[in-house]
Amino acid sequence: MSRDTPKPPAEQSWNPERYQRNAAFVAKLGRPVLDLLDPQAGERILDVGCGDGALTEALAEAGCQVVGIDPSAEQVAAARARGLDARVMRAEDMDFDACFDAVFTNAAMHWVKAQRRALSAMFRALRPGGRLVGEMGGSGNMRLYKAAISKALQRRGIDPTPLNPWYFPSEEDYRADLESCGFRVKSIERFERPTKLETDPPGWYETFGESYLLAVPEDQRPRLLEEVSEDLRADFQKPDGSWFADYVRLRFKAVKPA
Ligand code: BEZ
Repeated sequence: MSRDTPKPPAEQSWNPERYQRNAAFVAKLGRPVLDLLDPQAGERILDVGCGDGALTEALAEAGCQVVGIDPSAEQVAAARARGLDARVMRAEDMDFDACFDAVFTNAAMHWVKAQRRALSAMFRALRPGGRLVGEMGGSGNMRLYKAAISKALQRRGIDPTPLNPWYFPSEEDYRADLESCGFRVKSIERFERPTKLETDPPGWYETFGESYLLAVPEDQRPRLLEEVSEDLRADFQKPDGSWFADYVRLRFKAVKPA
């Protein structure tokens, strides 16, 4: 890369120990998505973005034959340690062909850049009549958290726009994404879900928003995060000291026509 070529933003890394400490709520709050999936014993299910396998394990316990995929080798190792069939793979690179009854995905698709390639690969992985059930961040997700770190970076002369790692679509846009890949959408709903964190804004950013933090030298990150916490405190910290965040979900069910 020449000296003049801008470096792409550094990517999020996944540390399973930190994830289990700060992000156990992701799997707990994913339970209603499992209910929408309504897994049946014996079904073959693909879990896209399985992370450390907490929900993949619930599917295996329901008697399903589950394969999990995730781009993070560390998270896949944590899933395998639960005895699961988990593979290091990006959603857009999957080449499964009509071998699953259902595809499940929770809190993963907003990380995927090649959205339509990934949805096409999920479509291809399903047998005709198979279903896709998922949840991800919807438009407006973490709006004030994103605004707080964006302002703190702008004060340092850094443009936050290219550091944004997430895709949070509206219902209309995601319906169009799904339909353009061949799916028939059964339901899609966007709803606000203010969420109690198991950490504070610095812990949240370290766990989920590393691409923003890596844009400043390490010794300046604590100050940056203090500013972000100050900005968010009035709206998101409760008198008992606990922190909330402005999560918005997009939950959908779609089928591959038989
Ligand atoms: C979410 O589940 O909405 C989410 C997770 C990590 C970063 C941003 C959003």
